Amino acid sequence: MNGKEVVEKLKSMGFFISPDALKLILENENPEELMHRVFEKAGEGVFITREMLEEKEKAEVKEVIEPREVIVERIDFKPIGKEVEADVKIIMDNTDKKGKGKLEDFSNYFKNRYEKIGKMLERRESNNHMTSIQQAKKKKGETLKIKGIILEKRETKNGHYLIVIEDDTDTANVLVPSSNKQLLEEAGKLMLDEVIAVEGRMSSELFIASRIIQPDIPVKQVKTIEEDLGIAMISDMHIGNKLFLKEKFEKFIEWLEGKRGDEKQVRLAEKVKYLTIAGDLVDGIGIYPGQEEELEITDIFEQYEAFTQYIERIPEHIHVVIIPGNHDAVKTADPQPRLPKELVPRLYELDNVTLASSPSMLSLHEVKLLMYHGTSFADFVGNLQGMSFDNGARIMVEMLKRRHVHPLYGGRPITPTPEDGLVIDHVPDVFQAGETHNNTYQVYRGVICINSGTWQQMTPYQVKQGHKATPGIVPVIEARTGRIKVMHFDKTVSE
Ligand SMILES: [Fe+2]
Ligand SMILES: [Fe+2]
Repeated sequence: MNGKEVVEKLKSMGFFISPDALKLILENENPEELMHRVFEKAGEGVFITREMLEEKEKAEVKEVIEPREVIVERIDFKPIGKEVEADVKIIMDNTDKKGKGKLEDFSNYFKNRYEKIGKMLERRESNNHMTSIQQAKKKKGETLKIKGIILEKRETKNGHYLIVIEDDTDTANVLVPSSNKQLLEEAGKLMLDEVIAVEGRMSSELFIASRIIQPDIPVKQVKTIEEDLGIAMISDMHIGNKLFLKEKFEKFIEWLEGKRGDEKQVRLAEKVKYLTIAGDLVDGIGIYPGQEEELEITDIFEQYEAFTQYIERIPEHIHVVIIPGNHDAVKTADPQPRLPKELVPRLYELDNVTLASSPSMLSLHEVKLLMYHGTSFADFVGNLQGMSFDNGARIMVEMLKRRHVHPLYGGRPITPTPEDGLVIDHVPDVFQAGETHNNTYQVYRGVICINSGTWQQMTPYQVKQGHKATPGIVPVIEARTGRIKVMHFDKTVSE
């Protein structure tokens, strides 16, 4: 279906549509289905806006169980997960992607990023070809599209934005005129080193922008599967730190074992087939100034021993996926490799454990899961207006729009590898990150974004950094409905 057909069809049914809502429908994997959902919701003669379409998505998905008392009761525990075998596939892992340690790594890395995201931009704009910057410079006055990686961005004295982008042929000075307020706002949200396309025309020295295009993800339905299984998500335990909330974590494990909870909570535990852990498993050693005084376990191997013991207690029918974070004892530059055998030898022996890199992409019972600890969150908070550690899910949406988990080079460290493994090649169904220590959830274009909080009380360092932690909260995705249920171990535990 093309735009005209959609507008005609809607018109014939008594609907009008705004241009950005139309765009959203056209980007949908299944435009007819999305239109159907609109018909269900709206009465005749309604003007359909983008907000209406997006709001509908949100309303369908999120369900949070309010904090409730966790009571020990003897309830028959019959985990569904025991009847169903785990189905875990690794779609993308960065552990073995290595550079040569030479200068050419950098140029290859950016070239690969440009190529991968450039292709996404071309697919997105399929009915209208992009012109190379070199060619564009010869076609003055014509309206066309160019694409490139952002090298520079600044505001001019007259309130315009000047953005320098580079493709594989040349660089262009893109002017975002101050007269176009909407576009100016969009330009303000761009970050260095992300790959964008720009529509506009070449005047003498400048490319005058009329539209900015990010690769983004297509609109899709929230993924659901037939089996009534749950995916529980945690991160940032910081085992070894004095502020690791041991008792609460114990209670979480007892809940997974079916030993703790009221009827409703035990029924939810029965569904849990997967537990995914998004990094900062242990607190590490020498990670921030003054950390020594805050450690209960001062040996890194002993920290991982304590972590291993917890994982060994998780019932066998639950498959556990583990990625590292910046506190873990692997290199801190992104991408981070999976935990090596030296640190967690016994986990390598367990059939129900998968170790993966940060970021990595897996499928759990056909649910495509992107996992990333979130090392780049600080870059987003520092460089993008409106971003904060209180709302990690919102930052995750910004990553999806850019199809990249860590666009800025020169902020938090990145290891250049021949293939840029930080590009979001596949559109996930679920995206999990940690790092912020704050539970936040958002559904963006059908992708469930979850920031899975922490098990550490706030450290004085974090208080100083302006963080707000929400320890002991566990989101569980019910894969059959695509809904999020949340278990609270925060207010329910008396100490
Ligand atoms: Fe953390
Ligand atoms: Fe972290």
